[in-house]
Amino acid sequence: MSIESILTSSPSATESWAREFAATLVGGELIALTGELGAGKTVIAKGIGKGLGVREDVISPSFNYLLEYRGRLQLFHADLYRIESADTFRALGLDEYLDRGGVLLIEWAERVRAMLPPETIWIEITPGNDPQSRKISVRRPS
Ligand SMILES: Nc1ncnc2c1ncn2[C@@H]1O[C@H](COP(=O)(O)OP(=O)(O)OP(=O)(O)O)[C@@H](O)[C@H]1O
Ligand SMILES: [Mg+2]
Repeated sequence: MSIESILTSSPSATESWAREFAATLVGGELIALTGELGAGKTVIAKGIGKGLGVREDVISPSFNYLLEYRGRLQLFHADLYRIESADTFRALGLDEYLDRGGVLLIEWAERVRAMLPPETIWIEITPGNDPQSRKISVRRPS
């Protein structure tokens, strides 16, 4: 397991970090994004989208749970903020997205923590000392 911590001092710094992080992805990754409301999970998702060469703006999929984008790798972006039950989560069939060789990004993944596989990459974003700063922790199994 490896743990990396990054401090950013603006939304654009978080987005740039995410863009670089995306360059390390090869497809088939499940990335769990955690952190409170407004922490910056979607900012990271937008940066990962840019890093994967997605041309559209990655937006929050809260109302439909999952949006799909085409880039260097396909990006599947889910947001489980409104998920009511484990059954609803199972019904989304996220395994199928991984089988398609894309990158699956899940906001509010802590809601289904116990259901995610051991190879999940966990990224947590938490507030820093001032309103524009954040701490990003990346935990990769290996
Ligand atoms: N260093 C920073 N990194 C990321 N976002 C920051 C930073 N500083 C301030 N912000 C602001 O924090 C907010 C993060 O919003 P974002 O929608 O990404 O949060 P979220 O974690 O996805 O929230 P939600 O749980 O509602 O989906 C934005 O308004 C952004 O401008
Ligand atoms: Mg969000």
